[in-house]
Amino acid sequence: MDKLLTTLLLTSILFSTTYAQNHNCSSFAFRNNQIFATCIPLPVLNSVLHWTYYPNNHTVDLAYRHGGVPNTDWVAWGLNIDGTMMIGSQCLVAFRNSSGEIHAYTSPVSSYNTQLAEGALSFNVPRIGAEYSNNEFIIFATLELPAGRTSFSQAWQNGGVSGQVLTAHAQSGDNLRSFGSVDFANGL
Ligand SMILES: *[C@@H]1O[C@H](CO)[C@@H](O)[C@H](O)[C@H]1NC(C)=O
Ligand SMILES: *[C@@H]1O[C@H](CO)[C@@H](O)[C@H](O)[C@H]1NC(C)=O
Ligand SMILES: *[C@@H]1O[C@H](CO)[C@@H](O)[C@H](O)[C@H]1NC(C)=O
Repeated sequence: MDKLLTTLLLTSILFSTTYAQNHNCSSFAFRNNQIFATCIPLPVLNSVLHWTYYPNNHTVDLAYRHGGVPNTDWVAWGLNIDGTMMIGSQCLVAFRNSSGEIHAYTSPVSSYNTQLAEGALSFNVPRIGAEYSNNEFIIFATLELPAGRTSFSQAWQNGGVSGQVLTAHAQSGDNLRSFGSVDFANGL
């Protein structure tokens, strides 16, 4: 095939793929009509992160969506301030509790044996809530970001709930690839 044509074709495929993802993510209609400035589809586990960053007070309003899961799962998303992946991550967690309500809370993870017990994070989270519909959990929160930076490691997960106990996530496939970085000021 002609070189120029190949280049054009590849460019248009790349463009339409990027467009479709961005388009999907930014056209998502939240039930509470909330609008966020930015969104990125995360590479695995049907997850999308939406946020608005406010430089004036260094806070971020965010929504973490994790789709394709039953309401008997837990989901979690977190920032890792000093490290990467699971240990040290400062998590937002949601699951359906024994009252049948979607319970959202914060949990700092310090061990591979964590059951995601409720606890304060290393930064302030003045607001957190969650909902579940269409096989998707959405966690809404406001984070007061650690001072002096907007770029962090992030990780996200899902696993099963047994009674009120959050059990370990799958130890294979995409559940071991669900980490990366995020820059709240610059997008990625
Ligand atoms: C994005 O849109 C495409 C085309 O409409 C659709 O096939 C795909 O399932 C959508 N993806 C998400 C994550 O909504
Ligand atoms: C941060 O500033 C924005 C813009 O002024 C404001 O809308 C928001 O409520 C503030 N957030 C907090 C947690 O104070
Ligand atoms: C379930 O979660 C809701 C919402 O966070 C909370 O009000 C309720 O106390 C929780 N129930 C139990 C049994 O923990």
